[in-house]
Amino acid sequence: MKKTKIKLFEAFAGIGSQYYALKRFKNIEVEVSGISEWDIKALNAYRAVHYPDIKDELIDPKIARKELESKDFSNDGVTKYDLNKLSDNQIVKLYNTDKIVKNYGSVQNLSKNLIKGNHKKVNIFVYSFPCQDLATGGKGLGMKKGSGTRSGLLWELENYLNQLNKLNITPDILLLENVRTIYSPTHRKDLNQWLDFLRSIGYNQNIELLLNALDYGLPQNRNRAFIISVNKRLVVDGNKLKSSIYDSKTPIDKVNINDFVKIGYDAAEEKEAWLNRTPSREEMWRINKKNLRLNPYLGTITCNLDRSNNAGMFKYRNSYRLLTMREAFSLMGFSTEVYMELKRLDYSYRQLNKLIGNSIAINVLEVIFKNILKFVSF
Ligand SMILES: C[S@@+](CC[C@H](N)C(=O)[O-])C[C@H]1O[C@@H](n2cnc3c(N)ncnc32)[C@H](O)[C@@H]1O
Repeated sequence: MKKTKIKLFEAFAGIGSQYYALKRFKNIEVEVSGISEWDIKALNAYRAVHYPDIKDELIDPKIARKELESKDFSNDGVTKYDLNKLSDNQIVKLYNTDKIVKNYGSVQNLSKNLIKGNHKKVNIFVYSFPCQDLATGGKGLGMKKGSGTRSGLLWELENYLNQLNKLNITPDILLLENVRTIYSPTHRKDLNQWLDFLRSIGYNQNIELLLNALDYGLPQNRNRAFIISVNKRLVVDGNKLKSSIYDSKTPIDKVNINDFVKIGYDAAEEKEAWLNRTPSREEMWRINKKNLRLNPYLGTITCNLDRSNNAGMFKYRNSYRLLTMREAFSLMGFSTEVYMELKRLDYSYRQLNKLIGNSIAINVLEVIFKNILKFVSF
């Protein structure tokens, strides 16, 4: 039987949880039309997760530099990086990675690229924009249009989607993911302004969801906002789609924390888990009071697992320890193979922690996509 081809675009791609989840469906063929990501460390990780076997091709470093000139990159995820600081070898590597993962660069570069006429209509467009300014722990800078905040990068997509609309190639489905505070009274006005914009370009159904990884087979309390926007050219019963997603829950007593939290693979991992006991860590463990024996699931995997109030510090077999990165990837639904590929990048605990804390729980994405595929004919 001929498989349905699903074209995917990942804006704010990170390590590509979206592609990872969609690839699990055997009855479809997934084609990534492109991604938008500006963090070089995330791009390397995306390549390691999705294209581990593709080798670099030889290219003149001068040509590679010229090609990359029109895109913005960052090395710390915050500031723009000056590519002149990269050696010829590093520039060739970045050129290859950028090409292999089909990166369009920063979301701020998207419209610029579009003028070149190289964008195709996609079926699913996912945008999980930065949450720092919306999260409870952040500075509360918000996502107001024109605010210049990191969460405000959402509005960079307005121009892009407007242009796609003029060309009649708006995506069939848009999927937003972010922290649940996006629904709070503080951010509601900005969110509504965004949804009004989407309606103005033809997304007349915007299905708001609040989904917890705990309800979908992962022992992690991760409650996230997802909004599915359906283009009016598709006939979809949005209410049925929504209730079917909520009906697809897995009871938590069917999930065994010991399938996710276990150590002892090698000495380095043991070292990662059993931290030296310093007064500040003693304090964190005391505040967190997390005892897996009493409560068989962990808190949200954030980007700072070794800080106070975070899921990483917990009591395990009568002693206190830190969640390892292998465990963190597993609690987000990624396989051990993915973790092993990423390990080869030689990233620090903090760097891997940032990538996984930013990502999306695979099991939740799987349920969303399963139901989109069930209720939408592309
Ligand atoms: C919340 S994370 C999304 C992670 C992703 N969903 C995943 O599966 O890993 C936000 C991502 O947006 C990226 N980002 C930040 N500013 C960006 C920009 N101007 N253009 C493109 N990506 C950007 C960050 O580097 C980060 O990877």
